[in-house]
Order: sequence, then C-alpha cells, then structure tokens
Amino acid sequence: MEAPQIFHKDPSTFRTAPNLNNYEDTRKSFSWDDVADKEIAFFPDGKLNAAYIAVDRHLNTDLASKVALYWEGDNGEKEIFTYRDIAHRSNQFGNLLKKKGVRRGDRVFIFLPRVPLLYISFLGTLKIGAIAGTLFSAFQEQALFDRLENSGAKILVTNKDLSTRIEKIRGKLPNLSDVLVVDDPNFSAQLTSQENSLEIEHMEKDDYAFMLYTSGTTGKPKGVVHKHYAILSQHLTAKFVLDIHKDDIYWCTADPGWVTGISYEILGSWSSGATQVVYSGRFDTEKWYQILQDYKVSIWYTAPTAIRMLMAKGEEVVKRFSLSNLRHILSVGEPLNPEAIRWGLKAFGLPFHDTWWQTETGCMVLVNFPCTDIKIGSMGRPFLGIDAEIVDDNGNPLPTGTEGNIALIPGWPSMMQTIWNNEEKYKSYFVNGWYISGDRGWKDADGYFWFVGRADDVIKTSGERVGPFEVESALVEHPAVVEAGVIGKPDEVRGEIIKAFIVLKPNVTPSDLLKEELSQHVKKHLAGHAYPREIEFIDKLPKTRSGKIMRRILKAKEMGMPIGDTSTLEEY
Ligand code: WTA
Repeated sequence: MEAPQIFHKDPSTFRTAPNLNNYEDTRKSFSWDDVADKEIAFFPDGKLNAAYIAVDRHLNTDLASKVALYWEGDNGEKEIFTYRDIAHRSNQFGNLLKKKGVRRGDRVFIFLPRVPLLYISFLGTLKIGAIAGTLFSAFQEQALFDRLENSGAKILVTNKDLSTRIEKIRGKLPNLSDVLVVDDPNFSAQLTSQENSLEIEHMEKDDYAFMLYTSGTTGKPKGVVHKHYAILSQHLTAKFVLDIHKDDIYWCTADPGWVTGISYEILGSWSSGATQVVYSGRFDTEKWYQILQDYKVSIWYTAPTAIRMLMAKGEEVVKRFSLSNLRHILSVGEPLNPEAIRWGLKAFGLPFHDTWWQTETGCMVLVNFPCTDIKIGSMGRPFLGIDAEIVDDNGNPLPTGTEGNIALIPGWPSMMQTIWNNEEKYKSYFVNGWYISGDRGWKDADGYFWFVGRADDVIKTSGERVGPFEVESALVEHPAVVEAGVIGKPDEVRGEIIKAFIVLKPNVTPSDLLKEELSQHVKKHLAGHAYPREIEFIDKLPKTRSGKIMRRILKAKEMGMPIGDTSTLEEY
C-alpha cells in the first residue's frame, strides 16, 4: 500500500488553542468517572438530567443571555434565542406535556422539520423524565407507523402540514393519546400560557432519555435507546473534537431525525456553550456559503455527500464569500474521500476532520482531533476512554494491517442502553465482550483506523442509513410486484443510491412508466429519501435454500464482480 499523505498540524499556527492539546498523554490517564464531576452538573442528590446539563445549568453563568440559537427558515425567516429563552420555553413545553398526562418513561415523538419547537420540545420532554424520539420529516405513513407503534408513543408533536400523514394510521395506534400541532394557534396559546419554571426531574444515570430508530439488514428499524448519562460523552466530544469554545459560532448541518442532530445540535453542542446556527432549508451551494459568511460561522460539522455537492460547483464560488471566521471543519456519516480533504484545503484553507460513529454509539468514536495530524483517508483514532480494535467474526483481535470488524469495548456513557422491546437484537451486537459495529476496516501501526465497508447489506445514501428490508417491504405492497431485492449501488455524489431488482406479476408489462410509479410508491408510503433511484426488472431473485434474498449476489452482479460462494443458494 502507498504511504498515506499526512496533514501535519503545527501548534504555532493554531488560531485558537485547542481544548485538547495532547491526545496521547490525556488518553493514558483518562477515565469517564474522573471527569464527570468537572464536566457536567449533577444535582445535590447525585442524580442528573441531560436537558438541564445541556441548557439550564448555564443560567447561573454569563451564558444565560448569550445566543444559543440563530434560526433561519427556508423562506428567510429568522429568530434568535438566548440560553435563557431555550430554558424557559422548554420548561413551558414540559409543563404542557405534564398537563396532557405525560409521565416519566412515556414516549414523546417529534415529527417536525428543523423549526425551533423541535429543539424546545425535545428538551422539554427530557426535563420531565419522558423519552424523546425524533422522526425525519421525510417519513411517510408506513415509516411513521412502524416507529410509533413499536415505541408505543403517547404523544406526537408535529405541524399542520405533516399531521395529514398521521390521519390514516392514527386509528391503528391505540397508545397515541394526543397529536400536538405546533402551528395551530390554539396550541400556541396553550403553550405560552404555561409557567416558564419547572421542577426538572432528577434522573438516574441509566434512565432513558431518547430513542432513535435505525436500520439494519433484516426486519423493521430498531429503536436504539440512550440514557441521560450519555450527555457526558456528547459534551466531551463536542468540547475536544468539535473544539467548541465559548465564542464560537457553530453550524451542524444535520437533521435531529438523525443521531448527529441530537448529539451535536442539541445535547453536546449546547452543553459546551456553543452559539449555534440552524438552517431549516434545503441544500443549496450559495445559500450554504451565505450562511457560513453571514453568521460568521467558525466551526462547521457536515457530511461527505454535501461536501461532494459543494465540490461539484467548484472553489470559485467559495471565493465570492468571506469565510474568514471559519477555523475548524468536520465531517461524518460516510467515507470522506481523500479528494474532499484536499479540496477543503484549497477552498477553505482548512482540512475536513473525519469522525466515525453510529446511532448506537451515541457520540463520536473514531476521530481526528484539532491537535493531531490527519492521515488523509483515515477516520482517525479512538476518542478518550473508548477502546477500539479490529476483530475477527469470533471477537478475536487481529494483527495490525489486517482487515476485519471494527469493534469497541462497551462502557462509555453514550453507548446505547438497549434496543427498545428487543433484548435479543441488543445482545446480538456483542461477541466475546466486543460490540461489533457492522463496519469493516483495518488499523495501522500508529493506531489510525481505515474504513473498508459495511459487513452487512445496510445502505448509506446521502448519509442516511436505510435498511433494504424496509424498501423491499414497501415495494411488494404495490399490486404489480411479486418480490423485490434492494441494494446500495455506489454513486459518486450520494455515496450510494438505492437500486431495486423487482420481479413483476406474470400479467404485468414492464415499462419505464411502471418504474417511475414504483419509485413514487416508495416515496409516498415509506419515506421521501428512501426510494429506489434505479429499478431493474428481473425474472427471479437469487435466494438461499431457506428463502432469504441474497443481496450480495445482486450487488456483485451489478458491479460486475465475482459472485462468490453460491453453495447455499436455492438455484441461480
Ligand atoms: C457509516 C451516523 C465511513 C458507517 C453518525 C456507520 C461512516 C454508519 C463514517 C452509521 C465515516 C459513519 N466514515 N463511514 N466517518 N461515519 N459512517 O447510525 O457505515 O446513521 O456504521 O450514524 O455510517 O450510521 P448512523
């Protein structure tokens, strides 16, 4: 293998001294328990609340009247909230939920675009000890039903526009007692009439705080549950990896329907005292640069698909904006191409810092720190207090340089606490004491990790994690379809696109129009982002003798690669 290109860091050139200035030494003596008291605030009884730690604890400091959120909507609407505003409004939200009969442990799901009330309702839910769940606004009735039913959600927080998607399924959700429509004037009146002070619930470290449904290879999405104590990991990674200082303006481009938007757009980022920007509009190259410029963004956390879309427009566009405040840029969600790092250096004079983690890990795990050199193309090294290794399928560590499963020793605060109502699935993640991530990679002699690919059929399209089973299920609901096999097909911009192989009913005539109809069907019933951009009709799907679709064979065929071992195939 060729020696990697290294981006050396020279501390004398740092514009801001990094919060962490020596990775190796700090790592040696680090323990989560040692730092907990200093980094987060416990109540005098030793209990805690993640929402209090993120926001309310700052009210005794000069952060109280600092801007917590600059919000900009798709039509240029703007709102500004201080930490005090966010604390008071989330208190009001908590009070309202209590009036609606919400108790500790109840599930409150939030189905909103990135409007201020999404952030406020999330915090209000945690404050009263209920469990918050977030739902992408791209979800349609099937995706919504699966999540609301499995979680037994009691309350859904949404808006007028999105609430129409709930109407058809509401009758099938007996636990859902209330749908709160935030842009309904009655709701606004109810909310603003609530007290803005609240008895925040004191929670145990392991009490559940939020849950997020995420996709695997098989079955419907699973509810990954995180606890209140996770805030310690989210806070410390925001401090040491995002490198948030009190005077930074920070922009995370993720949606809180995704774990990045929860850990680093609500919990860790506010806990570290960031002033953050939220832009709820769609991706647009010039608009994004405008946001970086106008809000004087200094730290920017985004994703490879977005970076590739920016790259496609060239660096001349960048030069039309004044981005001199930008000092630290990072990426997450998919492999970050070396080319993207080199482009970042040309366009912004800064390297993108890759971070690797998952819904299950709750915080960044393999990271590039501001103070450490970047091996271009590597995901970096494990965060403090987290042990990572490459192991074989039986959980035995492999020698340096050997490809295997990226595995972690569980035990850091934001490691998932359970899978909702599915202990068996939770247990299946662990082998020989290791948490097996589902990703494959290798580690070099300096302890840097390199990504190879997924070990399973999970698809990453524009950074979103999509399970093939969900898409296949949506497709077979269409009357023309007998069965469907779905894979991720490599794509230059989106990382992967969803491709479906479909067997039609005998009397159905294949056509391009039908392909379009099938794509639309998935878009309308499952989710706006999880539809197949490519469809191919075939006579038969490759299957195992037990009837399982062999997606790896579909993929190999698509890529013109050897099909591999087919001895367990039914016939092919
Ligand atoms: C992929 C996202 C390569 C990986 C926070 C992982 C990455 C899955 C990277 C988790 C990266 C995330 N390089 N691949 N830096 N970061 N991934 O749960 O396959 O939506 O398992 O969490 O995204 O996706 P999830």
